[in-house]
Amino acid sequence: MASDHAGYTLKLQLKAWLEAQGADVRDFGCYSSESCDYPDFAHPCANAVENAEADFGVILCGTGNGISMTANKHQGVRAALCWDVPLAELARQHNNANILALPARFISEELALKITEAFFRTDFEGGRHERRVQKIALH
Ligand code: RB5
Repeated sequence: MASDHAGYTLKLQLKAWLEAQGADVRDFGCYSSESCDYPDFAHPCANAVENAEADFGVILCGTGNGISMTANKHQGVRAALCWDVPLAELARQHNNANILALPARFISEELALKITEAFFRTDFEGGRHERRVQKIALH
């Protein structure tokens, strides 16, 4: 997981929920609500996913835009900005997203939990989507 100050509180709430589900969670920061820069935390989290040290990432900033833009600079990372449950399901089914990005200032904790639960319970469909996902990478 990673966030900036805008996503910090929601990150802690989601982290507690994920750990209660049995997930082994690593938090790459930030570690307080003090103003900070999302790339400082997005890059280490995206590195962990890119290097297969982590299966998935969950990242948050105010809009979800800056932190997902940063994560998507990493080859092998497919970060999806999701603000509702169907988006999270489709990000897994069609895009094999491996990082969930959330807009912390625009969704409630209750909705964030529903989105996160949907992301982790949904599998990639493969098939025609596999070909498309393979074409994302720059060669
Ligand atoms: C911080 O104020 C805000 O700019 C940041 O959390 C994020 O929304 C950037 O994309």
